[in-house]
Parts: sequence; C-alpha cells; structure tokens
Amino acid sequence: MDIRQATVDDLLGMQNANLLNLPENYTFKYYLYHALTWPELSYVAVDPRGRIVGEEEPSDEPSGHVTSISVLRPYRRLGLANKLMKQSHADGEDAYGMRYLFKKPTPS
Ligand SMILES: CC(C)(COP(=O)(O)OP(=O)(O)OC[C@H]1O[C@@H](n2cnc3c(N)ncnc32)[C@H](O)[C@@H]1OP(=O)(O)O)[C@@H](O)C(=O)NCCC(=O)NCCS
Repeated sequence: MDIRQATVDDLLGMQNANLLNLPENYTFKYYLYHALTWPELSYVAVDPRGRIVGEEEPSDEPSGHVTSISVLRPYRRLGLANKLMKQSHADGEDAYGMRYLFKKPTPS
C-alpha cells in the first residue's frame, strides 16, 4: 500500500472513504478548502490499483488537529492510519513548526 500526498484529484475518493467510515462528514467544498489551504498536509493510502483506502486531513496549525482519518475495513490493522498520522505530523512540523498532532474522538 502506498502513502502519498493527496491532490485535488483525490478529493472525491477521500470524501468517499470518510463517508464510509465516519459519522462526521464534510462537504466537497470543505475538502477543497483544505487542499488549497494546506496542500502539503493531506495524505491518502492507495491500493495497487490506485483506489483510495485511507485518508487523513489535518488543520489548525501550528498545533495540528486532524479533521478526518479513516481506513476502509478490509485494509485496517495494517498500520496505514499510523503511517498517515506520522507523515502529516512530519510535514506539519517542517511546514508550520507543528509540534503536536491531535485527533479528538469522533462522537458515536
Ligand atoms: C481508526 C482507524 C483509522 C485505524 O486505522 P488502521 O489503519 O487500522 O490503524 P493502524 O493499523 O495504523 O493502527 C494504529 C494503532 O491503533 C490500534 N488499533 C487499530 N484499530 C484498533 C481497534 N479496533 N481497537 C484497538 N486498537 C486499534 C493499533 O493496534 C495501532 O496501535 P499501535 O500503534 O500501538 O500498534 C480505522 O479503524 C478507521 O477508519 N475507523 C473508522 C473511522 C474512525 O474511527 N476514525 C477515527 C476517528 S477518531
């Protein structure tokens, strides 16, 4: 599984992963806003066919808050969420001096 920076072309796939995995959902406009404002901080996990199987979107630098992190069920417990978090944290640190990256629990 490949972890790479998200592009505008990935936004529909990211929104889809979020819709499938989480009760907190966002408009496409919100994803676009993230991609344009913090282009270096959103990451996707993609399978060998290029399908997005995980996504993460931080916001609110310099202490980062993850807006959404999700991994499709068949791809869970493979370390993808860990990799997505580490990648965003490292880039947030480089770009904005972000020391911490938080994810508040999602209300169930
Ligand atoms: C939460 C979620 C993103 C984890 O994705 P993942 O790729 O399976 O996670 P990883 O394999 O990278 O595991 C990360 C850590 O969480 C632990 N973990 C993962 N799923 C777990 C579970 N169901 N119960 C307990 N621990 C779990 C792993 O053991 C690992 O811990 P470690 O770093 O100490 O070894 C995924 O289960 C998901 O999409 N859930 C639905 C959406 C959601 O709840 N998002 C988070 C909102 S707060």
